[in-house]
Amino acid sequence: RLSVQERIERKRQAALVGGGQKRIDAQHGRGKLTARERVALLLDPDSFVEYDAFVEHRCSDFGMEADHNKFPGDSVVTGQGRINGRLVYVFSQDFTVFGGSLSGAHAQKICKIMDQAMLVGAPVIGLNDSGGARIQEGVESLAGYADIFLRNVMASGVVPQISLIMGPCAGGAVYSPALTDFTFMVKDTSYLFITGPDVVKSVTNEDVTQEELGGAKTHTAVSGVAHKAFENDIDALLNLREFFNFLPLSNKDPSPVTECHDPSDRLVPGLDTLVPLESTKAYDMLDVIHSIVDERDFFEIMPNYAKNIVVGFARMNGRTVGIVGNQPKVASGESKAPIRYQHLISKLYYCCLDINSSVKGARFVRFCDAFNVPIITFVDVPGFLPGTAQEYGGIIRHGAKLLYAFAEATVPKITIITRKAYGGAYDVMSSKHLRGDVNYAWPSAEVAVMGAKGAVQIIFRGKNNQADAEAEYVEKFANPFPAAVRGFVDDIVVPSTTRRRICRDLEVLATKKQTNPWKKHANVPL
Ligand code: COA
Repeated sequence: RLSVQERIERKRQAALVGGGQKRIDAQHGRGKLTARERVALLLDPDSFVEYDAFVEHRCSDFGMEADHNKFPGDSVVTGQGRINGRLVYVFSQDFTVFGGSLSGAHAQKICKIMDQAMLVGAPVIGLNDSGGARIQEGVESLAGYADIFLRNVMASGVVPQISLIMGPCAGGAVYSPALTDFTFMVKDTSYLFITGPDVVKSVTNEDVTQEELGGAKTHTAVSGVAHKAFENDIDALLNLREFFNFLPLSNKDPSPVTECHDPSDRLVPGLDTLVPLESTKAYDMLDVIHSIVDERDFFEIMPNYAKNIVVGFARMNGRTVGIVGNQPKVASGESKAPIRYQHLISKLYYCCLDINSSVKGARFVRFCDAFNVPIITFVDVPGFLPGTAQEYGGIIRHGAKLLYAFAEATVPKITIITRKAYGGAYDVMSSKHLRGDVNYAWPSAEVAVMGAKGAVQIIFRGKNNQADAEAEYVEKFANPFPAAVRGFVDDIVVPSTTRRRICRDLEVLATKKQTNPWKKHANVPL
């Protein structure tokens, strides 16, 4: 007979090898790391403190009660540890044990660390690699999912929640990542879908591969379900560490400040000539962002989705900020305008706000506001994208989300109009009127209801002095003065001084306190 000590040791050893060497080899064969290898890479060396390594599933149907079907720890590894010394709770699903499927015990382990994370105020990272509900457990497993969903919702806006999809994630399982703040994927080895290709074929008769239906490319470029994809497990986990450094630990924490080696008063001379004089010519807003933020370090969120808006995290003088910028380089969604207007659309309406960019921007702004991250907005927007596709798709409802998000945000808000700020889009993009704290215009700024050509066509319809009228309109409106004389921008700044101005403003605004009226919860347009 084994002593208790020996039994403890034996179980602990068994927990370390999960579903056994053969399945570990199969996991490696697919180019994937094991659940434990992933945790080890994600966290600082020796910082992982594991919980529940002795937990086993409690199913006694389909022969599951047999010893060879019991694995200490079951199909998930849970605990807490540190990333660059900062606390994080983590769960990592173990595909080598019943395909990482979710048993009642598995769910209970995840719920336990989520509850603890909420108690102490620390983020939760989930590493997902699972065949879904543990089929042998039936409703027990479904109950487990709902227990996790409820906690995802309760933790929303309290502690950051991040999902990294590193294998299958299908059926009800997708809704936990969908409820978290950020969903990242690993290229080629991860997929997310509600129903797989076989069910799709039988219901809609579509032929689609797993990768096409729910792979990283689909979700980062087409559906907008995932925020970023990485090359492989190692690349993903190392990037996740970098990403984590930007985040506060909870909604009670200020935006983190790290040591900064990039002078806060650094001038950026290139910006003085970056915006083309011709107001319909493109330039890259990423050039503006990279040159202004600390050490050109910008962690872009959703870089391949709705590229007409750029969002992501950076630092200014060491402090994390959220950046939102219109992207003049990229055309927005398809225009369905009649052919005779196409030339106008392509010239005037590239980089418009459309449905997808509004939703992308709104979600990002709301994350920043929930977690005390100041928002810096770069504006160059000729309006909302016209067309039946946008109107039928509900651009009014979706555009309202971005407006709503900026308006309700109480974190420090700094806005720079680099060129166009036309129409309703001017209001939306963190304008003074939505409680922007500091709003700047570059000399190239044009704040107006619309561009000169369109405006003159409307107000001087049928009159033949169009060219004169256009010149007058440009003289009056195509410059920063109409906004500046009314105090709707606080100053017209030399572009090269923008970094210095923002860093100083952030210092002043660090003590900003603003609250919205009491409400049970707000009713953001959905
Ligand atoms: N419940 C219980 N066991 C499961 C499981 C589940 N949902 N999903 C996978 N497993 C087990 C398999 O029986 C297999 O066990 P074994 O190692 O003892 O043979 C192991 O996990 C690996 O699964 P396998 O099918 O061999 O791996 P794969 O890489 O070929 O396929 C999936 C992975 C996820 C595509 C496939 O397992 C699958 O379709 N699972 C069911 C998904 C599902 O419909 N879940 C319920 C909806 S939420």
